[in-house]
Amino acid sequence: MRRAIVLLSGLWVWMFFTVAPATADQIVIGQYASLTGAIANFGKYTDLGVQLAVMERNEKGGIDGKQIVLRTYDTRGQQTDAKSAVTRLITQDKAVAILGEVASSLSIAGAQVCQENGVPMVTPSSTNPDVTAIGNMIFRVCYTDDLQGLYAAKFAVEKGWKTAAILYDRKQAYSVGLRDGFTDAFTDHGGKIILEQAFSSGDTDFSAQLTAIRNAKPDVIFCPSYYNDLGNILRQSKKMGIDLPYLGGDGWTDVESVTPADVLVNCYYVNHWDPGDTSTQESRTFIERSKARFPNDNFNVWSALGYDAANILFDAIDRADSTDGKKIAAELAKVRDFKGVTGTISIDENRNASKPAVILTFKDGKPTYVTSVQP
Ligand code: PHE
Repeated sequence: MRRAIVLLSGLWVWMFFTVAPATADQIVIGQYASLTGAIANFGKYTDLGVQLAVMERNEKGGIDGKQIVLRTYDTRGQQTDAKSAVTRLITQDKAVAILGEVASSLSIAGAQVCQENGVPMVTPSSTNPDVTAIGNMIFRVCYTDDLQGLYAAKFAVEKGWKTAAILYDRKQAYSVGLRDGFTDAFTDHGGKIILEQAFSSGDTDFSAQLTAIRNAKPDVIFCPSYYNDLGNILRQSKKMGIDLPYLGGDGWTDVESVTPADVLVNCYYVNHWDPGDTSTQESRTFIERSKARFPNDNFNVWSALGYDAANILFDAIDRADSTDGKKIAAELAKVRDFKGVTGTISIDENRNASKPAVILTFKDGKPTYVTSVQP
């Protein structure tokens, strides 16, 4: 009896701390994602899309007859965790390719490990130009911040906004990159940046920056921030009585989950896709299948990008007929006109994707489609 208990508890400890190794008829794909911390929704929603792609592919027989096993580790939104998650996926789990991250700073950290180990990585949604510049193993299925900055700048010009103040997050590669992308494009199109202010992720008091911005009297405030910080900024801005339009990028996704409707007025942002977009068959099918598989979850742009990234990767491994990193990367580099949920995806010579975008605003606190923009 005693022995049985010791044995059983030993088994439990084993099951808790290790995952069964993949067998010869399986293929391991690694995912690193922010599942906890200040940007936890990035990982939570992306994972839903990735899981859906894995289920569908496995039901159709997997890749080359092998079932896909998805291993996912939490980065907690931290660069050191991103590095160790990717290292573990490659060295311990023997992942043949990696999906992730959402936040550009974390993708940059993880991509370095992938590149050093010759393991291909596809980020669904990191837009900073530096991510794919890390090397020939690193790909993305979304537009870059140069393009996103151009989309935002063109929209600003069309709105008749001639001067802008920028409030950006100095701690995030994403925010710094989008600041630069917007500045270049807005200036090129005759606009003027009259003030630049910075904050750090997690700050809660923005009064100094907002006071400076109010005094500068710009036509628009460009704020490339992630949803949590943005919510705090907009609330404080409203309290200070600042009545200026705000413009931003994809990082705004999900701000409505942390921000009341009366604060989300006169706000516009660029995004990759919107669940309200039912214009393509791919979009409609994705929404239908997501609702059927995960009836208790909301799907959004992160899920759609995760789904596209996973499918593009699975196709590439299939065509490569191999789990060799170089061969998979060579197939990823050949992707042209892939009909994705988030649009038609072609990978260019810099391993980026030029894609259309949508501009959104808020109605009663809910993201609402304004217009589409083409590359
Ligand atoms: N593009 C952001 C980054 O590079 C991540 C993001 C993608 C956020 C899509 C929201 C929606 O960090």
